[in-house]
Amino acid sequence: MAKEKTVFFCTECGAETPKWSGQCAACGAWNTIAEAPKTRKTKASGTGPLRDTGVAGPVSLKDIDAREEQRISTGMEELNRVLGGGIVGGSLVLASGDPGIGKSTLLLQMARNLAISGEKVLYVSGEESLSQIKLRALRIGDCPDSLWFMAETDMETIREQALAIRPVVMIVDSVQTMMLPEVESAPGSVSQIRENTAYLMRFAKTENIAVFLVGHVTKDGSVAGPKMLEHMVDTVLYFEGDSTTTYRILRAVKNRFGSTNEIGVFEMGSGGLAEVANPSEHMLRGMPESEPGSVVAVTMEGTRPILVEVQALVSKTNFNLPRRTAAGTDFNRMNLLLAVIEKRVGVAFSGCDAYLNVAGGLRVTEPALDLPIILAMLSGYRNMPLPEHTVAFGEIGLTGELRAVSQALQRVREAAKLGYRTIVMSAADCEKIRGDAPKGIRLIGLHNIREIPKDFAF
Ligand code: TYD
Ligand code: MG
Repeated sequence: MAKEKTVFFCTECGAETPKWSGQCAACGAWNTIAEAPKTRKTKASGTGPLRDTGVAGPVSLKDIDAREEQRISTGMEELNRVLGGGIVGGSLVLASGDPGIGKSTLLLQMARNLAISGEKVLYVSGEESLSQIKLRALRIGDCPDSLWFMAETDMETIREQALAIRPVVMIVDSVQTMMLPEVESAPGSVSQIRENTAYLMRFAKTENIAVFLVGHVTKDGSVAGPKMLEHMVDTVLYFEGDSTTTYRILRAVKNRFGSTNEIGVFEMGSGGLAEVANPSEHMLRGMPESEPGSVVAVTMEGTRPILVEVQALVSKTNFNLPRRTAAGTDFNRMNLLLAVIEKRVGVAFSGCDAYLNVAGGLRVTEPALDLPIILAMLSGYRNMPLPEHTVAFGEIGLTGELRAVSQALQRVREAAKLGYRTIVMSAADCEKIRGDAPKGIRLIGLHNIREIPKDFAF
């Protein structure tokens, strides 16, 4: 039997090469070339421009009639916000995340909400049987008749059925199980994923049906398949969360129709995902009172201030090389901050193991977390708690100086709302917002971390 012909793809940019090589000649990325069976078709089904005006030549901007952008509410505020205010008709949304994080649950709930509000929805699953979907749906609640289910993996059949039903929103779970018969390789291969996505993009745009596509992620956290999958779609949502907590954070890492800063917070329960309208309260639930090494920080997620607990454990090391770990934040940043404390405050961390944790399952890499991290480390090192009802935020520079951060006033208001009375920040931020801060709140402005009192009596 003749050996099946194969080609090689760059998983980063999608470039095709006849031979394997260590570096992609097109984009220069290393170790990204993967083997895939050769596809018979040379012209990809989804190539060519998306002509929604019916005109082939160039047109002047004023002659393009922009259809008034209509948003369809998903029935979940948290999801609407991440999408930029609701679903845009004819858009293609890629929803990705670790297995078991709740992608199918979220989309099923969205489908149910849409159906309840009278929209027609089609849910196509290539992963689960109809009875499995039914079992999940039963946990969530009754589903109206305008919600259609189909267990199918053949893209052309899906298209036919969708055109017969003409839903407003179609959900395809997942791109890795779908296949186009004319593409010879197996479902889940680079070319199948690429072609199916292109096919769905074209379908969504020409038929004005919004498509939600589930995509699995690889071990390193990126969407399985070519990286360019993310370039092909309108919106990329990431559903993340710690498997040990019930909180799930939905983030838009790309959005052609809205901001990518917004997050949605959900909690997985026995009846599916519940929206968490006030994440701060949830993040701080179960927090110990007046314990050394525990500091409350105010971080911004998009336009929303969220309070999180920063925990540090500092102990004498038993090894030559001290152990350091950072959970929920940037490890390198923690090391840098430890070096800054060591140099500017004169605390010898080099003989200590230091463990840092942002509790609550949220990953925060914002610079405003610098000051809380430093306070937590000092508090842990000195084994001395911060005064009660104290929160902090602020960026630290290499000389130990405190720098202003964005939206200081909003942070202060959120902290005040949750009952915090002493708020530590940079002197610059303190000056700026002093006049507008809520009454009865003590604002402490610092120029440098050297001004942090030894006993934390601000
Ligand atoms: P699922 O949506 O199947 O995840 P994904 O599609 O991302 O792989 O979610 C599965 C997990 O969610 C599973 O571990 C069970 C849990 N779950 C609940 O805890 N409560 C519920 O009501 C539902 C439907 C699922
Ligand atoms: Mg699933």
